[in-house]
Amino acid sequence: MLQKIDTIKEIRKTIYEWKKLGYTIGFVPTMGYLHDGHKSLIDRAVLENDKVVVSIFLNPTQFSQNEDLDSYPKDIINDTKICEQAGADLIFLPTTNEIYPAGFSTYVTMDKGASEGLCGSSRLGHFNGVCTVVAKLFAVVKPNNAYFGQKDAQQLAVIKQMVRDLNIDINIVGCKIVREADGLAMSSRNSYLNADERVAALSLSKALTHSKNLVDAGLTDVEKIKFEVEKIISQEPLAKIDYVEIVDTIYLKPIKEISSVSMCVIAVFIGKTRLIDNIIFKSVEDSNGNNFT
Ligand code: PAJ
Repeated sequence: MLQKIDTIKEIRKTIYEWKKLGYTIGFVPTMGYLHDGHKSLIDRAVLENDKVVVSIFLNPTQFSQNEDLDSYPKDIINDTKICEQAGADLIFLPTTNEIYPAGFSTYVTMDKGASEGLCGSSRLGHFNGVCTVVAKLFAVVKPNNAYFGQKDAQQLAVIKQMVRDLNIDINIVGCKIVREADGLAMSSRNSYLNADERVAALSLSKALTHSKNLVDAGLTDVEKIKFEVEKIISQEPLAKIDYVEIVDTIYLKPIKEISSVSMCVIAVFIGKTRLIDNIIFKSVEDSNGNNFT
């Protein structure tokens, strides 16, 4: 039976009981408005753990003033259905005040490493908000394994760096991108797109697939590959590129030649909606045995 808990005090009691019984705990942090991408993380957590906690918390500290905190979509009824179907045991649904009570003043900040560049440059302070809330949720849920999507490649790298840097004893599991049938990477923000923008949004996955085809055909010149990606996206009048980069898959730093493990990461505005996507060129398994391609 799926439980819903909204206080830290209550969830701690349940976690304590589970730990006493020797259960392993899998954790899937989310901001709600769940779709099949989120569900794939929960499915995997259910397979690999005795108990699974999904948190649904729209974290204000990772949004800047001009971003979409107030308009972010919500559907707790459907979210509950998805968690139930996937076989999760508990939804943690704290209020903002529960996570950030009056007087809250301790933050986790990452000013270098994986948080540098890409979304770290376009969304100043974003990853500090992500690290702060994920560290707090980790301290509450105390999972053995925590599941994050490769869709947010930099976020995954940042969380891996945070647990390394802070000696947090939690296994971080990266899960591959779930896409719509036509290639668009699933995202809660896709709901902002009107019909024309929805078509325009296909330029992201189209450009990424083309870049992988070029690499598979033997092209190693990063500038040429970036040019080809930018060309496809620029042909779409509703699209405005935020960044197109080719980076290594661990630190997400720009590389000059496709030689080691590499990926193309992009952020593109479709109308007012900022979408991110990525594709891995060279597939090797990561330390969790995940092969993302
Ligand atoms: P949210 O955007 O709700 O995403 C929750 C998790 O689902 C993240 O790990 C994200 O990478 C994963 N995810 C989203 N779309 C996916 C897709 N198409 N395929 C695979 N995985 C996908 O990311 C956040 O929330 C927040 O930043 C959070 C980590 C919860 C901290 O507030």
